[in-house]
Amino acid sequence: MKVAVIGAAGGIGQALALLLKNHLPAGSDLALYDIAPVTPGVAKDLSHIPTPVSINGYSGEDPTPALEGADVVLISAGVARKPGMDRSDLFNVNAGIVKSLAEKIAVVCPEACVGIITNPVNTTVPIAAEVLKKAGVYNKRKLFGITTLDVIRSETFVSELKGKNPLDVNVPVIGGHSGVTILPLLSQVKDVSFSDDEVAALTHRIQNAGTEVVEAKAGGGSATLSMGQAACRFGLSLVKALQGEANVIECAYIESDGGLAPFFAQPIKLGKDGIEEVLSYGELSAFEQQALDGMLDTLNGDIQLGVDFAS
Ligand SMILES: NC(=O)c1ccc[n+]([C@@H]2O[C@H](COP(=O)([O-])OP(=O)(O)OC[C@H]3O[C@@H](n4cnc5c(N)ncnc54)[C@H](O)[C@@H]3O)[C@@H](O)[C@H]2O)c1
Repeated sequence: MKVAVIGAAGGIGQALALLLKNHLPAGSDLALYDIAPVTPGVAKDLSHIPTPVSINGYSGEDPTPALEGADVVLISAGVARKPGMDRSDLFNVNAGIVKSLAEKIAVVCPEACVGIITNPVNTTVPIAAEVLKKAGVYNKRKLFGITTLDVIRSETFVSELKGKNPLDVNVPVIGGHSGVTILPLLSQVKDVSFSDDEVAALTHRIQNAGTEVVEAKAGGGSATLSMGQAACRFGLSLVKALQGEANVIECAYIESDGGLAPFFAQPIKLGKDGIEEVLSYGELSAFEQQALDGMLDTLNGDIQLGVDFAS
């Protein structure tokens, strides 16, 4: 397997590259690309870690060498939030970056699975889909918005509140990846119960957890280390499934069957060709159903913005 990290010199990219260098299966190739000239140095630095994963770093204007032969492309290229900014404030810069990277992917590695971290994910994923469609290479089973950070945050906060081992807690998170579009399905967490107040407070905390980090970093950026971990979890799941492991399930933001919104985050089963099966998100509590109904205008608006931008 060849995994390319695009935006690899950034806060997320470096954390993700470190984790992948340590955890990809033996024999994997890791390629790092970023416009920042430090990128070959980041790869050189990581190359001194004794794991059976080869690593190369590329900088400059052209991501082609990193993308060539890639099975998985993970994109964190772009600008991150500062205090007072919403994810949608990143649109002006990041939309163009994702568009031009998707144009390259369409030519160089059209068969690759592409995971997008760059915000606003609700909008950058539809942009990439439109670009790939225009190039005639779109495969909805191979394009993902990475929402795993919402899942790991939910697992952490629930286990803290309920005194559980976080490794035993599983929380599906559906919808999208910003504000009210992030919907953790707390009613589906096994072996715990929540009061109505706890559900309201936890849901609000999970939806705003990114802002907790942005404010605590006081102008120094947004979540990078936890996001690196989240993207590594998703990337490793993808690699395992592509290599034939059965029953690999994650939540991700994908093209949906269109019932609620053209793109929607929900549980999926991964397989040798990307998404093997889109899984039902199951029964919702009354609170969750209301939250879902309430988010759809925002989510659909975010998606339309991406479609309009790409065309
Ligand atoms: N999906 C999520 O849950 C999630 C969570 C946190 C952050 N993010 C997003 O991830 C993105 C990256 O965050 P970060 O903290 O790593 O930012 P960062 O500023 O530390 O790193 C971004 C990197 O992208 C590089 N870059 C810019 N344009 C590029 C291009 N055209 N090609 C290749 N590289 C390019 C920059 O040189 C920089 O090294 C932001 O958009 C942020 O909002 C997403």
